[in-house]
Amino acid sequence: MADMIKDFKTMQQELKLDGTELCRLAQDFRQTAEDALAGRDSSLSALHTYLGLPTGQETGTFMALDFGGTNVRASRITLKGADGFTIETKVAKPLRSDDYDYTTSSTTAEALFDFIARIVKEAAGGNKAYKLGFTFSFAVNQTSAKDASLIAWSKEIDVPGVAGKSINGLLKEALVRNGMDRIEPVALLNDTTATLLSSVYQHNPAQIGIVCGTGFNMCYYEPALKMIVNLEAAGFTGGPRTEWDRRVDEESQQPGDHCFEKMIGGRYLNELFRVILMDYLDCDDIPRFTTRCMNELFSGEKTVRDVLGFDVTPEQKEGLCALGQDVFTRAAQMIGAASFGILGHLAGEEELKEQAIAIEGSLVEKIAGVPSVIEGAVCRSCMGLSEGTPIHIVPNSHGASIGAAIAAALCV
Ligand code: BGC
Repeated sequence: MADMIKDFKTMQQELKLDGTELCRLAQDFRQTAEDALAGRDSSLSALHTYLGLPTGQETGTFMALDFGGTNVRASRITLKGADGFTIETKVAKPLRSDDYDYTTSSTTAEALFDFIARIVKEAAGGNKAYKLGFTFSFAVNQTSAKDASLIAWSKEIDVPGVAGKSINGLLKEALVRNGMDRIEPVALLNDTTATLLSSVYQHNPAQIGIVCGTGFNMCYYEPALKMIVNLEAAGFTGGPRTEWDRRVDEESQQPGDHCFEKMIGGRYLNELFRVILMDYLDCDDIPRFTTRCMNELFSGEKTVRDVLGFDVTPEQKEGLCALGQDVFTRAAQMIGAASFGILGHLAGEEELKEQAIAIEGSLVEKIAGVPSVIEGAVCRSCMGLSEGTPIHIVPNSHGASIGAAIAAALCV
């Protein structure tokens, strides 16, 4: 490592977004979403989900499956209307461990779906007659809420033989292969949709659902279509990209794809911080670490040596922490600005009303201060909006699973 290090304050400027930039981002995002909605060329999508908002009165016991890109979670959930819900069983396994890896091009669709089916079996307690809702957190084409076909993988997953196929079809075949023909997949939805359904079910009136975990995305309820629309916000190309963002993109599995996600999603914030650090500390390589480790470094649970494998001076540590925090802050601000774009679309000429935004994911749940940075950025994205404008970020744990059960209830 060279002794001379860059001035971190100059580097920080690259990551800062002022009110004018946030405002521009919000307007761009709105225009790009409206283009997608109208069928014009757009870096966003307007994928129809065929699901409206729940009444909160839906009841019954369902299997819920959540496949997000890092873990597979199956649960048996009872929806109790006004009394909420109970998660009766829950089985979760990572897609990748020291012993196996179901994410790469060397696995097969059958192996992946058999793995998923075995997790469902454990959570269901055997071959019992349940309807199942499947939260499948990737871009899909749907013609009904019952099933969908994968458009393309993201989040560094690259399993062959799944794109273009019916997802609930692959699941059903795997359930049958694994002796569970009584379990019936009846609904398929995106995790953003699940988050929105779950929040509304729990009496938090929201029109926007956001996920910022491994990946990033946004959906909203479009009154003109009477259904929730999945924007596949990860694909937005209007964000202010730095050289570091370009580098992260170039080194990813699908360069040029999901560029906004690579500035916001937990799968990439660590990579972004790593390339920034190589620049800051002027070194050719730094061992990889996770976004969780990065956060633990800032919260004091881990030392620089724990995360990077070497020590730095106190001055370097100050710069390094400031740059890392900026990576998180910028991600949260971009979420706020994009949300404001959609709130503006929904409000039209009317004044913005008090409302909640349903949001799930490690960025809001694990990283201190993120919800208020998002709320602040919503306000700053619209110059005229006063500090006190009541937009509440409602973090929503288990939204992907609860939403899958609600979708199953809506589809039977
Ligand atoms: C996928 C979205 C998903 C998001 C969050 C993105 O990579 O394309 O469909 O909602 O990740 O999980």
